[in-house]
Amino acid sequence: MKRSIKAIENEAVGGMERQKRENIHWQKLSITRKLRAEKLGQTPKTLWFTGLSGSGKSTVANALEKMLYAEGMATMLLDGDNLRMGLNCDLGFKAEDRIENIRRVAEVAKLMNDAGLIVLVCLISPFEEEREHARTIIGEDSFVEIYMNTSLETCESRDVKGLYKKARNGEILNFSGISSPYEVPSHPNIVIDTAAEDLVTSVNRIRGIL
Ligand code: ADX
Repeated sequence: MKRSIKAIENEAVGGMERQKRENIHWQKLSITRKLRAEKLGQTPKTLWFTGLSGSGKSTVANALEKMLYAEGMATMLLDGDNLRMGLNCDLGFKAEDRIENIRRVAEVAKLMNDAGLIVLVCLISPFEEEREHARTIIGEDSFVEIYMNTSLETCESRDVKGLYKKARNGEILNFSGISSPYEVPSHPNIVIDTAAEDLVTSVNRIRGIL
């Protein structure tokens, strides 16, 4: 009987998965995450900023990183737009691409936490399930979810990059908040509405829980 291409593909992928499970072993390293963190004298965390485009993720994260840097902390900021020009240049904005985008960034953040760094991630990351996946990858103790609760109306009125206008005109498809969903976090550690709170207050509030 002739088998479908899908069946052959599934079999090949299944075989690869099995081979990976059977033939790849975790390599134990001498210099541990704890040692790396001790050397830097800080507790690694991932501060995960989620919210619509224009909600202030990058602005708040950037100001916070400046503060942490000035205090002598070792940090890294992973910004969705920037990562999409390199590591994630093969990904677009359909759901499966966003899922992969979030997974990759979570894995990178985890590695950077392993290196001892305090990591600030700015991703719309619109799906609750994927943010929970990121929390699992990074670890409950290290993951801090910061929900930028700036209203769609405010984000759209700012329209810093002119993208909302294009989305409304149908020039951009799958735009978060307009033609693609944004799922509000159910248990964020911090909620910030940049229309109601000034930048210094927001930054100090996050600094306060680190
Ligand atoms: S995410 O949904 O996969 O987390 P990410 O944060 O990496 O998104 O990228 C969002 C940025 O890409 C926005 O700030 C915006 O500048 C740009 N962008 C371009 N097209 C879209 C779109 N369809 N939806 C959302 N953002 C878009």
